[in-house]
Amino acid sequence: MSGTVSDHILAAALLDAWQATVPSASPSVLALGARIELLERLPAVTAVQPFKPFVDPMTATGHDVLADLAGLAPDQHFQRVMVWPSPVRAAARAELAAAAQRCTDGGMLICAQHNERGARSLQSDVEALFGRVEVLSKHRCRALVVSQPHARCNAALAQEWLLAGAPQWCAPLSLWTQAGVFAARRIDAGSALLMQALPTDLSGSLADLGAGAGVLSAHVAKHCPALSRMDLYEADARALGLAKRNLGALAVPYEVHWHDVTRGLPRHYDVVISNPPFHAGGAQSHELGQQFLRTAISAIAPGGELWLVANRHLPYESLLMQGLGNVLTVLQADGYKVLHARKAHV
Ligand SMILES: C[S@@+](CC[C@H](N)C(=O)[O-])C[C@H]1O[C@@H](n2cnc3c(N)ncnc32)[C@H](O)[C@@H]1O
Repeated sequence: MSGTVSDHILAAALLDAWQATVPSASPSVLALGARIELLERLPAVTAVQPFKPFVDPMTATGHDVLADLAGLAPDQHFQRVMVWPSPVRAAARAELAAAAQRCTDGGMLICAQHNERGARSLQSDVEALFGRVEVLSKHRCRALVVSQPHARCNAALAQEWLLAGAPQWCAPLSLWTQAGVFAARRIDAGSALLMQALPTDLSGSLADLGAGAGVLSAHVAKHCPALSRMDLYEADARALGLAKRNLGALAVPYEVHWHDVTRGLPRHYDVVISNPPFHAGGAQSHELGQQFLRTAISAIAPGGELWLVANRHLPYESLLMQGLGNVLTVLQADGYKVLHARKAHV
């Protein structure tokens, strides 16, 4: 996924702060929320990024990328930790706390945010955790530089934020959820409508595109006994970790795939279900959802079927008509529609 203009701007803010603080010798560097825009301009970096479309361009250019910090040795520390923060505050707070734990004693933490996307909140969180920080305002962003974050970190607050950002059991939903993952602590209204519409006689192999924490897959596994296998495709590694917990041991065999759905699927399926994303890089994107549909259309086996839910205003019908020759609106409520289409037998 090539970065948006705002990604390039945030990268510039982080890199300017880096330039202002870089020591003469090459420091060891950890980047949380790493992006290709940073890696292109920094010396050897240990990169952590859970979102596959951001990972693929980094691995394609020879970088190793970890999906999460569990891939590091517990005692591995860095002289510089760069944080490209999550747009979700609880997740960003957990990243700051984790970053402090990974800094060497004399190390430095650098993070940045757009002014109109929460720079002020980020600064107040950084100050709450570490005390006074150095602020660089440029590119309509604030870059924040914390020296010796390990020593200055409020340990109790860091622990609180790490816990709040970790996977949590949500008893009312009977689901594992996590801050920063789609629909944390609620079932999305669109997903709920799709579950209401899905028939119980779905059979054969099934793919769940953009499976998130596995809500739809858990539903069909429970209600559709004729399914023979399920594959969950999802870009966010954190969501897949939750999905594994949420599905646990099932009668139907299943696999989870850390995968960018816009790149197509490796096999064909009798059934494809999806609540496609319609946001990319913080902005609404019809193109991303339409790309999901194109992937679905080519992955459905002859005679197979597609079930998807979308916001009512999203223009998906014409694409399905073109690709499959039919489409039916099965249910509409609360601004959502459930669409069904079938691929002809050859
Ligand atoms: C609308 S949510 C639906 C999640 C889940 N199916 C549910 O019903 O709760 C869309 C999901 O697509 C994932 N996603 C976004 N872009 C993706 C991509 N390029 N490839 C795979 N998954 C993607 C998001 O991380 C999110 O979990």
